[in-house]
Amino acid sequence: MNGLEILGTGSYVPDFEADNDKFSEILDTSDEWIYPRTGIKRRHLAVDKPNHFMASEAAKKAVEDAGIDPKDIDLIIVSTCTPEFFYPAMSCLVQKRIGAVNAACFDVNAACTGFITALDIAQKYLAADKYKTVMIVSSEKLSNQQDYTDRASCILFGDAAGAVVLRGSDKPFYSFLGAEGDEFDALYCKIHYEHNCPFYEDQDAFYNGRFDTFAKQNYLWQDGKAVYKFAVNAMHNAVLNVAAQGGYDVSDLDIIIPHQANMRIIGKATELLGIPPEKVYTNIEYMGNVSSACIPVGIDELNHAGRLKTGMKLCVVGFGAGLTYGAAIMEL
Ligand code: COA
Repeated sequence: MNGLEILGTGSYVPDFEADNDKFSEILDTSDEWIYPRTGIKRRHLAVDKPNHFMASEAAKKAVEDAGIDPKDIDLIIVSTCTPEFFYPAMSCLVQKRIGAVNAACFDVNAACTGFITALDIAQKYLAADKYKTVMIVSSEKLSNQQDYTDRASCILFGDAAGAVVLRGSDKPFYSFLGAEGDEFDALYCKIHYEHNCPFYEDQDAFYNGRFDTFAKQNYLWQDGKAVYKFAVNAMHNAVLNVAAQGGYDVSDLDIIIPHQANMRIIGKATELLGIPPEKVYTNIEYMGNVSSACIPVGIDELNHAGRLKTGMKLCVVGFGAGLTYGAAIMEL
């Protein structure tokens, strides 16, 4: 039993919307600059709710959609790179809020590749029959980490959560994960500790390359061009890898949900793969980049639009800080 069955899906998108014009009120930018270069018109920001609230709301909806008792969930994996706590894991807060009292809980952080990483882990537990029902919740509050004076970054990101409830199945499933740690400093958010250990000495000498010790503390920093270049190749290679594992031709895929970082990255990678635009699902125009939540929010949208049909081959592919990348193909 190698496959996955999606029992239910859910998502939470904050009410507050910031369109490109709202950003031109606070920055020297415009819709004319942002939209053609990114494909983003607006994004939702969790201005009055913490990340774990978004995660729990998405989880509740997925449980309801699956028609299961939360007590039947054996494992909750939360993917997030924007938690409010170093510990406990956010999955423990979700467990409490939804009453999944029998679930084991842990979080994964593979940045925007987090959902695909969690899917890869979930599949292994289910295939081994260790757990019967696994929930993945990908929840991201990127607004926590933006420098809203950095016009080349903050305009890209939004906040949202997506969740899926999974069981094992006999249908095919293939996955691939990769990382290029050499490029760790192309996209990072360094934790700033308020050290009070009197014996500490300066440790910034341990960083080099593009790492900027003067970057604002606790904020996202990126080399946009380097990430862009990496992303196109990474998505292309990841899809070819999973397709080859299953003996599929790329044209066999029915629908592909790519990570929603930039419409031009999506367009270029899928063009190189020869995947026509009608098979490529995007929500970047109204969501922006919501990191690991992009893909499960997309799955939930497709599910509730009645577009996920039995027998379809669904491909998910993404990349993110790390730099990490990965893809999965599941037959529904
Ligand atoms: N509005 C107006 N001008 C802007 C701007 C904005 N929001 N952002 C950048 N600019 C300006 C720059 O200041 C620069 O001006 P200059 O030439 O006078 O110095 C000019 O536009 C070009 O900037 P550049 O950074 O070279 O733009 P770009 O074409 O590389 O586009 C990104 C920037 C961020 C949109 C693009 O690099 C990108 O999408 N990269 C991938 C990032 C990503 O996806 N990160 C998350 C991965 S999970």
